[in-house]
Amino acid sequence: MTKELSPADKAKFVAAKRACDYVQSGMKVGLGTGSTAAWMVRCLGERIREEGLRIVGVPTSTRTAELARQVGVPITSLDDAKWLDVTIDGADEFDPNLALIKGGGAALLQEKIVATASDQMIVITDAAKEVATLGAFPLPVEVIPFGWQTTKALIEELLVGLDVMNREVSLRMNGDRPLITDESNYIVDLHLKRIGNPRQLALVLNQIPGVVENGLFIDICDVVVIGHADGRVVLRDINNGTESEDRIHFAPSDNIFREL
Ligand code: 5RP
Repeated sequence: MTKELSPADKAKFVAAKRACDYVQSGMKVGLGTGSTAAWMVRCLGERIREEGLRIVGVPTSTRTAELARQVGVPITSLDDAKWLDVTIDGADEFDPNLALIKGGGAALLQEKIVATASDQMIVITDAAKEVATLGAFPLPVEVIPFGWQTTKALIEELLVGLDVMNREVSLRMNGDRPLITDESNYIVDLHLKRIGNPRQLALVLNQIPGVVENGLFIDICDVVVIGHADGRVVLRDINNGTESEDRIHFAPSDNIFREL
């Protein structure tokens, strides 16, 4: 029931629910990863059941694929879909240009491939993730396991010449072992505190041979949907330069809360 949702979950839910209004029958939809994106997948499942919405989803992780199956969202691979109408995903941080840090859930590689193969990327988030300058959230970088310590050293060396506030790099662990991504790689987290030039950093990181991809999403996000716990939703569109506000009403009888 809705009254059991935390304020953070309410904010994520209303952002996800409002973003699902962009989805229409016949669309191919990129399905992001994370707790906010999970609300979006549940909301799409509800629309499929209740309205007969006809869509196909392309999940960005095994976790999202599993949830989509559970809630009845048909899925296919990106290779089958080829190009998508829209991708809806969460983010760890976004700045005034709608540049993002993503990868807190270790799915940045598939997320970036899927978002880049979409006409539109919509980010769903709560207000706490809005920042003036990216970098307080550690920047995830997906690296090949072979020679990862050399790759980490090369990243550290690279950071010396760049406009960042801190330069610590750590291997992401899952218990006492390195975390393994869906693509069988490792993640290193860059604790930079402040990224002066995200565009430059994104480009130079990807020049290092052992780096597969980094979690900076620049010029990829079109719209950010910012949810608030009171049901307010702010929609910011970077292409139109517009900002509008909407309100989502909680329905305690809503079926999707019974699935929690
Ligand atoms: C996963 C991601 C997520 O979208 C990001 O970490 C936000 O997650 P959440 O919605 O749980 O806060 O990038 O790789």
